[in-house]
Amino acid sequence: MTDSTTTTAATEGAPDYRDGGLVFPADFTFGSATASYQIEGAVHEDGRGPSIWDTFSHTPGRVFNGDTGDVADDHYHRLDEDLDIMKALNLHAYRFSIAWPRIQPTGRGPANQAGLDFYSRLIDGLIARGIRPVATLYHWDLPQALEDEGGWAARSTAEAFGEYARIVGEAFGDRIHTWTTLNEPWCSAYLGYGSGAHAPGLTDPLKALRAVHHLNLAHGLAIEALRGVVTNDPQYSVTLNLHVIRGEGDDSADAVRQIDALGNRAFTGPMLRGAYPADLLADTASITDWGFVLEGDLEIIHQPLDVLGVNYYSTNLVRVWDGVSPKQNADGHKDVGGSPWPGADRVEFLQQPGPYTEMGWNIEPAGLEDLLLSLRDEFPNQPLMITENGAAFDDSVHLELAATDAAAGVVAVHDAAPGVVAVHDAASEVVAVHDADRVDYLRRHITAAHRALEQGVDLRGYFVWSLMDNFEWGYGYSKRFGIVRVDYDTLVRVPKDSAHWYAELASSNRLPD
Ligand code: FCB
Repeated sequence: MTDSTTTTAATEGAPDYRDGGLVFPADFTFGSATASYQIEGAVHEDGRGPSIWDTFSHTPGRVFNGDTGDVADDHYHRLDEDLDIMKALNLHAYRFSIAWPRIQPTGRGPANQAGLDFYSRLIDGLIARGIRPVATLYHWDLPQALEDEGGWAARSTAEAFGEYARIVGEAFGDRIHTWTTLNEPWCSAYLGYGSGAHAPGLTDPLKALRAVHHLNLAHGLAIEALRGVVTNDPQYSVTLNLHVIRGEGDDSADAVRQIDALGNRAFTGPMLRGAYPADLLADTASITDWGFVLEGDLEIIHQPLDVLGVNYYSTNLVRVWDGVSPKQNADGHKDVGGSPWPGADRVEFLQQPGPYTEMGWNIEPAGLEDLLLSLRDEFPNQPLMITENGAAFDDSVHLELAATDAAAGVVAVHDAAPGVVAVHDAASEVVAVHDADRVDYLRRHITAAHRALEQGVDLRGYFVWSLMDNFEWGYGYSKRFGIVRVDYDTLVRVPKDSAHWYAELASSNRLPD
C-alpha cells in the first residue's frame, strides 16, 4: 500500500489502462453498490429511528446546500423499479447496506418488524432476479440514541452492534450471499470523530482512536454473532478504504509509514493479524495509551475472512511538513478544520497531478493495481473484492436540448463540454447522459483490476460505485457518482451511457472494445 517514490499515471512507457476485449473469469462478479442513507429516503417511515446522519444533515452548515437524506432517491418507495433496473443492467450482485435505525430505532431492544420486512423484500427481489445479495451491516447511519451514549468512542456501541448483527443474521441468514460488517471504518472513526467532516461531526483525536478500536471490535463481535445464527453458508467480509500512499522527497518514508499505520494497518493489523502495529501505538502515545483495548479483544477482532472488501478511488501523496510554510491538506476529504490523522501533525498531503474527477480526486488506475499487488504480498492467502470504485462527474451543467427541431426529433449534442453531456427533450426531461468521462474512468480501473488478476491476485469481483446518483455525504447532491442518473425533482431514473457499457461487460465478463 505504500510506495516511497513519486509516480504519475503519465510515466513514459506505462500502460494507459484503456484496454478493450479483456476477458474475466466466468465466476468473476460484476456488481454495483449503494448505501441506505444515501438512497432510501423515507426517514420517518415504518418506525425508523433517527441516525447521526439525520441529525448532522439537519444541522446548518454541515452539508453542502443544506441537503439531507430525507427523500434522497426515494428508493424505499421505488424498490421494485430499482430492482428491475439492476436486472436490466445484468448485475451479478448488489451491495446494499442495512439501516440499523430501521431495525432497532434506538440501537437497542427488539427488532422493528417493518424495518426487517423492507430488507426482506429487497433480498427476495434480488434473488428472484438472479442477483446475489451482498449486505453491509453498517454504512455510517448509527442510531442517534447510541451516539447520545458516546457513539463509537464508547465500547457499549460495539456490544450493541453485535446484538444488532444477531437480529439481522436471524432474519436474513438463510439468504445473504456475502455479509460485510462495516463500510470504511476509517471514515467512521477519523472523519466522524477527528476531522468533523462526517457525522457526528466531532474533532477529538482521543475519541477518534477509541472509535477505531470499537469499530474493529464491532466487526469481530458481528462476525461471531452471524456465525452463530445463519443457516446458509455465506461469505464473511469487511470493506476498508485502504490508502495508496506515495511519498515525495527523500525523507518522506516516515510520513508514508505514519499514514499507512493510521489509514491501513490500524484496521488490517487487528483484523487480519490479531495485533495493533507497534508503530501506531508509539505514534499516538501522546494521545492515548490504548488502555481501552481489553484482554481478549484482539482474539474477537481477528476473524478469518472469506473475502476482504477494498474501496479505491485515488492515491495520496505525502511528505514531512517543514513546520514553516503553509501546510497542505489535500487528502481528498472535505477540510472542515479538524484533522482526520491523529498524531500525524507533521505530515502534509500534497496536491497531486491531474486529471481529476469532480471530487477533486486524482485519477490513477495504477494506484488500484499497486494496491491489489501489495495486498497480495502482505496477505497472500486473503481473497479480495473491489467493493467500491467509480467517479463523480458533473452530468448536469452541460444539459443540451435533444431536439433542436423537436418535430424532427433531431438529437443535438454540442462538443463544448466533452466528457459528459446530458441530453433532454423539449419538456426538459433528460433522456440520455453521454458520460464518456465515467466510462473512461471505469474502463481504466477495470483494466487495472484485470492486470492484477493476471499477476496472480486472488480478486473475486468488482462493484461500481454507484448504481445511481445519490446523497454524497458532506457534498449533498452536488456530486453524481451514479451509472444511472436520478432527477432530484422528479426522481426519474435514466441509465447513463456508463450503465449500458457496464451492462455489456456484466453480460459477457469481457471488457467492451
Ligand atoms: C466512499 C463511501 C461511499 C461513497 C463513496 C464516493 O467513501 O463508502 O458511501 O460516498 O465514497
